[in-house]
Amino acid sequence: MIRTINIPFSYTEYEKQEELDFLDMELITVARDTALNAYAPYSKFRVGAAIRLDNGIIVRGTNVENAAFPSGICAERSAISNSVSNHRDGIPVAMAIAALNEDGLTEYPVPPCGNCRQVIAEEESRTGKKIRIILSGKSKTIIMDGIDNLLPLQFNKKNLKVNLL
Ligand code: THU
Repeated sequence: MIRTINIPFSYTEYEKQEELDFLDMELITVARDTALNAYAPYSKFRVGAAIRLDNGIIVRGTNVENAAFPSGICAERSAISNSVSNHRDGIPVAMAIAALNEDGLTEYPVPPCGNCRQVIAEEESRTGKKIRIILSGKSKTIIMDGIDNLLPLQFNKKNLKVNLL
C-alpha cells in the first residue's frame, strides 16, 4: 500500500509588539540585548538567543565565530550549551531569537539553522518538554509551540534505541 502523509506545521505571526505577551516580549528583549555580545567579525551578523527555564531563570547565548569558520557556534547552540552546563536540571520552556545585521535589528525573524534545529530537538527530547520558539524581527514576530514545527521526522534517541539520562 502506498500512503502520502501530510505533516502539519503551524506558527502564529504577530505584526505589532503590543500584541505579544509580557513574558515573550521580555525574552525577546534579552535575546536582542544578548546579540550585542556576539563575536561575529566575519559575518557581521550578530545573533542572540535567550532561554527561559521552568524555574524562571533566563540563560543567554550568542554566536561566537572563528577564523576557522566551521569552528564557530550559533547563538541557539551556545544558549543550550550554557543552559545544560549551568542549570542541568532546569527545563527550557521558551527560547527567543533575535539578530542584528549591519543596519541594526533584522526586519524579519531569523529562523534557526539546521544544526540548531537538531540541537533544539535533542533538548526537547532530553527534557520531554516542548520549547516555545519565538523568532523576532523588527516588524514581525513568529511564535510556535515546539521544534517539530521546524523539523519534521526528527532523528533522535529513539532511532538509536538508547534511553540515557
Ligand atoms: N547564526 C546563528 O547564530 N544562528 C542561526 O540560527 C543562524 C546563523 C550565526 C552563525 C554565524 O556566526 C552568523 O550567524 C552568520 O551565519
